[in-house]
Amino acid sequence: MKETTIQIPIKIYPENGTGLSEQLKNLVEQAKNATETSYAAYSGFHVGAALLLENGEVVCGSNQENAAYPAGICAERTAIFYANAHQPKVAPVAIAIAAWRKTDKKFLAHPISPCGICRQVLVETETRYKQKIKVLLYGDSGIYEVESASQLLPFRFDSDAL
Ligand code: THU
Repeated sequence: MKETTIQIPIKIYPENGTGLSEQLKNLVEQAKNATETSYAAYSGFHVGAALLLENGEVVCGSNQENAAYPAGICAERTAIFYANAHQPKVAPVAIAIAAWRKTDKKFLAHPISPCGICRQVLVETETRYKQKIKVLLYGDSGIYEVESASQLLPFRFDSDAL
């Protein structure tokens, strides 16, 4: 028997972004702003995502819910699919995510991390463009940074298995 452990390196910055580049600080601000466009009629959980493309453009997304719950989509995939559909030749290089609950209307103290489906999509996007996507998770108590979306989904299913 052999045992192995997978670790995820995470950098934690203060919530004002000190230590991050101006471009990434701005990306976090755009993710926070994008929460305002969320349609969270059922969960009351408002999520914003801002995707930085290699050409410097930023594409934002927010979660869009539906009475038929599974028809809804997360903020991260809204942003990624919009970017891929409009600029299929431009690689995404970073994504920032922020969220708040309707009940307290302030950003969560601890960051949320993308759901499993969004992780799978982020990894596919990295593979497709051969480019790492940095992940920035905003919380009122700090900003978590993961160098590559793939680190959030170790031991994953990918096309090599097909
Ligand atoms: N949600 C996101 O948009 N991104 C995440 O990373 C986690 C969850 C959305 C989906 C749903 O509209 C609501 O948050 C509650 O799960």
